[in-house]
Amino acid sequence: MINVAIVGVGNISVWHTEAYLAFPERCRIVALCDISPEKCNERKAKYSIDGAQIFESHTVMLETMKGKIDVVSICTPPYCHANVAVDCLNAGVNVVTEKPMAASLKECDVMLAAEQSSGKTLACIAQNRFRDEIAALKKVLDSGLIGKVVHAQIDSLWWRGLHYYDLWWRGTWEKEGGGCTLNHAVHHIDMLIWMMGMPEAVTAVLTNASHTNAEVEDLSVAVLQYPAGTLATVTSSVVHHGQEQKLIFQGEKARISAPWNVYASIAAPNGFPKEERDTALENKLNEFVAAIPRLPYTVHKGELENVLTALEQGKKPDITGIDGRNTLELITAIYKAGTTHTTVKLPITKDDPFYTVEGIMGAVPHFYEKTASVKDFAGPIST
Ligand SMILES: NC(=O)c1ccc[n+]([C@@H]2O[C@H](COP(=O)([O-])OP(=O)(O)OC[C@H]3O[C@@H](n4cnc5c(N)ncnc54)[C@H](O)[C@@H]3O)[C@@H](O)[C@H]2O)c1
Repeated sequence: MINVAIVGVGNISVWHTEAYLAFPERCRIVALCDISPEKCNERKAKYSIDGAQIFESHTVMLETMKGKIDVVSICTPPYCHANVAVDCLNAGVNVVTEKPMAASLKECDVMLAAEQSSGKTLACIAQNRFRDEIAALKKVLDSGLIGKVVHAQIDSLWWRGLHYYDLWWRGTWEKEGGGCTLNHAVHHIDMLIWMMGMPEAVTAVLTNASHTNAEVEDLSVAVLQYPAGTLATVTSSVVHHGQEQKLIFQGEKARISAPWNVYASIAAPNGFPKEERDTALENKLNEFVAAIPRLPYTVHKGELENVLTALEQGKKPDITGIDGRNTLELITAIYKAGTTHTTVKLPITKDDPFYTVEGIMGAVPHFYEKTASVKDFAGPIST
């Protein structure tokens, strides 16, 4: 039986709570911790988590429950992920941290070092890999059926009203760590790296087009350069009505995308596309996707089940701290390129000002002042 604690009992922790409670024969929630302990009491009562102890501080929790917690889900705002994760790992507790893994590459490296020295496991949430259409897209790309990928179009398009940035920790470089590129596109950037690997270089433009109460960007467009001429565009936004998110891969032989769609052109003798399409290839791709078994569990439940399995079997989960760090490195490159108006080559080295939170904060554009600081918003969130 795996003993679980949740630190940060706000909105996203509901997904963690429900995921763990879905596997009562494999794990139980033994502790809930939040700087607002009334949230822990509410959660405990709402879900009848009878055995859970409640704490206001993760250090007190770790001390009081020494040897009694196997894994902690960290669901606090981004600026505290590193600190809480390192304390947990050093106390001999495995960690699942919410995205983004941390606010800087230096923090990621400190977390990875604590994982190494403790011999425990550090997992990072990227739950969208546990969606059927995303898992299928990855399998099709790996199959090589569409040939070399020549372009990827990543539309991380979300919409958030002005009040979104009134929550106390959002909208500042210090506490949120960045804007939509870090906190929303983190999902799509993780998926892109999973499917295509890391690019060699990045150019980008950052702006705040309409959230006049946030220091951070609400829109960015990045161009990523891969070996052999392949490009990817990543649009990160919280200004797009309808939130029509897409990942589109143009292979030499066909285009595939999530939401699933396929298109395979055939060239006429003069190189223009023929009226008819390569239906043989399109059918093959559709059949390939139709034959992929559906995932037993999806999104947070899928990823946390994978973490439970890894802990039970003494292996690493599918999404590790290295994945979280890679995603943050690419996001950091977008911030650096958008700030310095240069093409940024990867990797970001330790002597780069953008390696640390202080370096990032000293360099990035500060678009607007935060005008309100609301402790909590009622109502559900969508992911
Ligand atoms: N995976 C996803 O799709 C997804 C979606 C939304 C948010 N998130 C991430 O989850 C994290 C939390 O976001 P949220 O929307 O749940 O925010 P939230 O404000 O609703 O919840 C955060 C909670 O952490 C508590 N907290 C703050 N500092 C703490 C500390 N030092 N110790 C203990 N508790 C502390 C707050 O009191 C609050 O209850 C963020 O990193 C965010 O990016 C992930």
